[in-house]
Amino acid sequence: METKIFQADILDAARLIQQGKLVAFPTETVYGLGANALNEEAVKQVYQVKGRPSDNPLIVHVSSFEMVEQYAEDIPILMKPLVEAFWPGPLTLIVKGKKGVFPDCVTGGLATVAFRMPDNQKTLQLISQAGVPLVGPSANTSGKPSPTTAAHVYHDLKGKIAGILDDGATQIGVESTVLDLTSEDNIPMILRPGAVTRNDLEKVVGTVAIDQHLIKENEAPKAPGMKYKHYAPDTPVLIVEGSKEQWKEAISWATNNKKKVGIYVSQEIVDFLGTNDFIAVSFGKNTVENATRFLFAGLRELDGKNVDIIFAQAFPEELLGAAYMNRLKKAANQNFFKS
Ligand code: TXA
Ligand code: MG
Repeated sequence: METKIFQADILDAARLIQQGKLVAFPTETVYGLGANALNEEAVKQVYQVKGRPSDNPLIVHVSSFEMVEQYAEDIPILMKPLVEAFWPGPLTLIVKGKKGVFPDCVTGGLATVAFRMPDNQKTLQLISQAGVPLVGPSANTSGKPSPTTAAHVYHDLKGKIAGILDDGATQIGVESTVLDLTSEDNIPMILRPGAVTRNDLEKVVGTVAIDQHLIKENEAPKAPGMKYKHYAPDTPVLIVEGSKEQWKEAISWATNNKKKVGIYVSQEIVDFLGTNDFIAVSFGKNTVENATRFLFAGLRELDGKNVDIIFAQAFPEELLGAAYMNRLKKAANQNFFKS
């Protein structure tokens, strides 16, 4: 199959979706693998093409709140203010689904459905032109770093999907915050941290809980997808915490052990280290926003450079840092460099 790359011909892309074909789409977080959420055959292909376990439910992407009203069983009282504050944007809301609307493979057989309105004009147009909600897991091979450019999608899925709607690099770089609105006590619960932080949410709806699995590693996660090994390049990753001196130690440990090393760090640290003993991918200015935005692209790039090990810079696990460290720890299999 030839994988067509669309820039502006959104009508053509929408037509492919209506024909039950797969088209990857841009969002503000990562690229999604789009298919008509009401078409069982199309959704099954999504799992197949990604190599995704079938018990891992998909997010349903909509272009209007009316679409949610059409497909949800009821609208929880906290949903409206959240939608007003954060949609379109990186927040996925889990509500009760209407029976018989979505094929079981969309929800993994659960009674709940995850909805999100992405903040990308081309994709909002694609959804409304297609006239149906789209499933949209990240458009990568399951387990690999999520795609933040059309080129990443092409690398993983060329020949397997009908098209890619290209809108350049994504801005946020990690997937949306997943918030469950179906708990018995009516307290919303974060199942996956993203760019909409607990702080942001609490300003709008008061107390917000966090799935214990995100804090204690041995608890089972409530979002089925959070239990899988994720975001991992083929090269082993170690997280480097702390001072610049720690970076010096990490590099000399690697060179002493004859390991070719790649580093994912701020420009400040590249300049501080100042040697040629490593391959550096810098995320520029030393902010957690930059680190998050380029994380997956950085891991993919270093993975392509034939290094033996990747060192990546830690950030404090607060605000956006919680989302960044959640992804980085998975990529590193929880491993930190220790001197
Ligand atoms: O930013 C994003 O959310 C991206 C872009 C493309 O929109 N999409 C994305 O989808 O990350 P995916 O399929 O890679 O992740 C969906 C996550 C999984 O962890 C899944 O288990 C969880 O949401 N999820 C979906 N429906 C659920 C449900 N009904 N109950 C609990 N968790 C659910
Ligand atoms: Mg994913």
